[in-house]
Amino acid sequence: MSNENPHSTDSPLSTTTPQERGTSPEELSSRGDTRSQRPTSEAFREFIASGWDETVPDAERLEAAAHTPARRDALVQAIPGTRLVLPAGVLKVRSNDTDYPFRPDTAFAYYTGLGTDEEPDSVLVVEPSAEDPAVAEATYFFRPRAGFDSTEFYADSRYGEMWVGRRPTLAEASQRLGIEVRHIDELRDHLAKDVGASLSLSVMPQVDAAVEEMVQEIREQNGLPGGEDARREFDRLQEVSSEQRLVKDAYEIAQMREAVDATIRGFEDVVRHLPEAVGHRRGERVIEGVFARTARADGNGVGYDTIAAAGDHACTLHWIRNDGAVQEGELVLIDAGVEVDSLYTADVTRTLPVSGTFTPTQRKVYDAVLEAADAVFAVARPGLRFRDLHATAMDVVARHLEGWGLLPGSAEESLSPEGQWHRRWMVHGTSHHLGMDVHDCAKARREMYLDAELVPGMVFTIEPGLYFKENDLLVPEELRGIGVRIEDDVLVTEDGVENLSIALPRRAEEIEAWMATLKP
Ligand code: GLY
Ligand code: MN
Ligand code: MN
Repeated sequence: MSNENPHSTDSPLSTTTPQERGTSPEELSSRGDTRSQRPTSEAFREFIASGWDETVPDAERLEAAAHTPARRDALVQAIPGTRLVLPAGVLKVRSNDTDYPFRPDTAFAYYTGLGTDEEPDSVLVVEPSAEDPAVAEATYFFRPRAGFDSTEFYADSRYGEMWVGRRPTLAEASQRLGIEVRHIDELRDHLAKDVGASLSLSVMPQVDAAVEEMVQEIREQNGLPGGEDARREFDRLQEVSSEQRLVKDAYEIAQMREAVDATIRGFEDVVRHLPEAVGHRRGERVIEGVFARTARADGNGVGYDTIAAAGDHACTLHWIRNDGAVQEGELVLIDAGVEVDSLYTADVTRTLPVSGTFTPTQRKVYDAVLEAADAVFAVARPGLRFRDLHATAMDVVARHLEGWGLLPGSAEESLSPEGQWHRRWMVHGTSHHLGMDVHDCAKARREMYLDAELVPGMVFTIEPGLYFKENDLLVPEELRGIGVRIEDDVLVTEDGVENLSIALPRRAEEIEAWMATLKP
């Protein structure tokens, strides 16, 4: 099935239908397109516009909408005196006239409560209310569904309901979000109103170039500084929204639990299909596909590209090509996460023996990594600095490497800033915050992230690893081609951490027993 009028709407901010803009269907058909056979007769246009049930179903308030007012209040309190513009983002072309599935910007999703594929080109505006500057007022701007009598309805492959399915009305969107909703055409006037000495205007950068440009123009027209000063304000919005998401609210924690639970089901399914993976020349793709099925059926999809890495591929940290075989006797490292419809994602890794049991050498490496992870679990609690999670894991890793005679000095020397030899075999970090983004809160300041103390409600990964590449001449031959990572997702509680992914076996003997029960 192909689209006869690729991208007939010429700009993301071109929010009117071609018909509303005075573009005739004939013009639309001829522009940059030589293969359209869509009829343009008056008879066709009248006929396709008639006979549709116009009933609009009742819309339900989003569950997240109970939490978004508090999030927006915190935002306007952190950035006072400013109208804040949060675009959803635009559709991205994959190739020619096909787009990637739309995934809204994380900050937009956080402050609106929208998830899945809603709603390209829309914009949330948040500002202090006139009555109380500590309370946020929010307005959502989007392009509502066009009527059945519009050209868009049947001729626009990006937005038309014939092509992309039912789209909401203004009233439906307002009911779902619990805030005021306007047509996107009113965005510019709304953004410009009262902007000046006592009200600044800022935008989440790098989400929607057209909206960013509009904000820059309005700032300039109203005497607000441009250039670096403007950039600093925009960056501050990015920073604040990252920092605000460091501690999850009750809804977010519930969503994280769902994401982890779905991910565990995905791993179980992968183990059930391991024999099929072994029998296929690209067994890693079989694993990727099996996990993707659960992710797509139970959630919105995978939260990041699945790493399915057998044998030496496990030593390539972001192995997402997944085109290798999976062979008996090897380990296979699977790093995968389901993103649920609210866009929260899990991020879990298990390293499994393909034949169901670890060899002594594999087990030696596996247990060292497990010990590093357990050491982090033992110290993680409110008050510990985030950076000390990594330091704790590195302590264990360096001691094992010293014991195996791999370090050119002592573990102590290696752990000092001048040494760090052990990092040759684990170059990544041990932990990162997790939420709607797999590497969540990435724009938070160092003092709020690495140097900050753990606080109840934070969610992060614990994921030490050891990777001995097959061409590593500094390790004994028996270790070459072994890569192990164990990754769990944890929630900081009042007195420690809860392992959200505890239901997925992580000790070697538990893994062996679990794999045996899932064998077809
Ligand atoms: N899956 C990416 C990571 O573990 O950070
Ligand atoms: Mn991770
Ligand atoms: Mn991961």
